[in-house]
Amino acid sequence: MYIVLLGPPGAGKGTQALTLSKRLGIMHVASGDLFRHNLNKETPLGLEAKTYMERGDLVPNDLTVRMVLHKLKSPECNHEALLDGFPRTIHQAKSLDEALGQENKAIDVVLCLQVSSEKVIQRLSGRWICQDCQSPYHTFNAPPISQGICNHCKGALYQRPDDTETTAANRLGVYMKQTSPLIDYYNNQGKLIEINGEQTVDQVGQDMLASLSRIEKERSVR
Ligand code: AP5
Repeated sequence: MYIVLLGPPGAGKGTQALTLSKRLGIMHVASGDLFRHNLNKETPLGLEAKTYMERGDLVPNDLTVRMVLHKLKSPECNHEALLDGFPRTIHQAKSLDEALGQENKAIDVVLCLQVSSEKVIQRLSGRWICQDCQSPYHTFNAPPISQGICNHCKGALYQRPDDTETTAANRLGVYMKQTSPLIDYYNNQGKLIEINGEQTVDQVGQDMLASLSRIEKERSVR
């Protein structure tokens, strides 16, 4: 399957993707993580993306599409993926449709997390991430067992430089302007499922799994 997780910054895409990808046995492909990996390694791609990411703006489409499609074609994806943070513009969505179409594949479903702007800012300003396994935590909503240390791999936790209130507010504005048109784009294709992202992490995950199994059942009837 190709599944897209859509939703504003801080909606919980990464949190859900970690569990969902393991449960479904498909690769989690997060464009933000790919950029941060390149940035840490100081690759030309990472250095080109740096200024856009620091401002909370989108990295140009051509660079982003090239990076994600390269990952999707890798053997570890094996023609399946749980996409998180990509596509983020109509241009990216069309490029993805075209690339998958060349392999007689298509996006199966788009799970769109709905979370209010106030909650998003509150979540981002309290977020901590494991520098090794990328597991997200939150000062109040999801604190680690030991302060500053990942529950899963004991890696050190850090705060993303683009999680300040000003940059987070810009990212939210960018989402409204450039990414939210994807809601209509995928709705018109009959692929969009809206999920209430303001519930507990477990409840959101259960709703996602329930939606996916409903789709599987509908397909097996056809
Ligand atoms: P990216 O890394 O993709 O950031 P984002 O979309 O802004 O998403 P986030 O990672 O901030 O949020 P999330 O939804 O994953 O939330 P999380 O699960 O962590 O992109 C970063 C930058 O890279 C962009 O600004 C851009 O510059 C560039 N970029 C990336 N992709 C691009 C593209 N396609 N095109 C162009 N540029 C691109 O949760 C957030 C917090 O909330 C955590 O603390 C978590 O513990 C907590 N939380 C989660 N769920 C719940 C819940 N149900 N209840 C309570 N708390 C919760």
